[in-house]
Amino acid sequence: MRTKIIAGNWKMNKTAAEAVVLIDEIKSALDGVTGVDVVVCPPATDLKDAGAALKESFISLGSQNVHWAESGAFTGEISATMLCELGVGYAIIGHSERRQYFGESNESVNKRTQAALKAGLIPIVCVGETLEERDSGQMEQVVTSQVVEGLADLGDDLSRVVIAYEPVWAIGTGRTATPAQAQEVHALIRRTLAGISSGNVANAIQIQYGGSMKPDNAAELLAQPDIDGGLIGGAALVADSFAAIVKAAL
Ligand code: 13P
Repeated sequence: MRTKIIAGNWKMNKTAAEAVVLIDEIKSALDGVTGVDVVVCPPATDLKDAGAALKESFISLGSQNVHWAESGAFTGEISATMLCELGVGYAIIGHSERRQYFGESNESVNKRTQAALKAGLIPIVCVGETLEERDSGQMEQVVTSQVVEGLADLGDDLSRVVIAYEPVWAIGTGRTATPAQAQEVHALIRRTLAGISSGNVANAIQIQYGGSMKPDNAAELLAQPDIDGGLIGGAALVADSFAAIVKAAL
């Protein structure tokens, strides 16, 4: 049985002071909860205070990006070593907003993923097709190449990766993939993983769904055989709705 993993991607929301308040609310809402992996991914400027607020909690801290180099002339970027020093355990990589607005490619996703793994971070690698790609019959090819190219050459470290399937047309739109639509792509991703790994690796990898997951649709999505959690945007910014999604995963 794969443990479910619910992660909140706060995107560019919440100052450091606001992050501490939200984390305190999430901690109380999840008091006594066990048996599920929970991660919050606030903006980089919040990570230090968020890490302090999460001390001694079962909730992990994640970043929204990580650079592939250890240090150097990369203005605006943050290295895995810098994140580890702040107690960060997970790093979202290749979110569709980064692919769409900041030129992220499967190749850069792969470089970031390799660096994250080398430093001991768990990468949450995002994949997913746009509406045009789905409507023109390219979903399978797009998602497969995002998985194969984004996760190339990881060797045994592939087993430490988390994947988030986020159909771009479902992000922030209120239009969720149906459980059957999501399950179909999750199964495709797991078959693709089986083709690039050996043993039980593909079967053990956690694959999250993301895109308008809310308290009222989480349970049926999470009940699908290949959906192992959620990467939550809007609903992660309100403690009660985030906690309700976590509880739907139990
Ligand atoms: P929403 O839950 O707001 O649709 O965002 C999903 C997402 O992009 C998480 O990374």
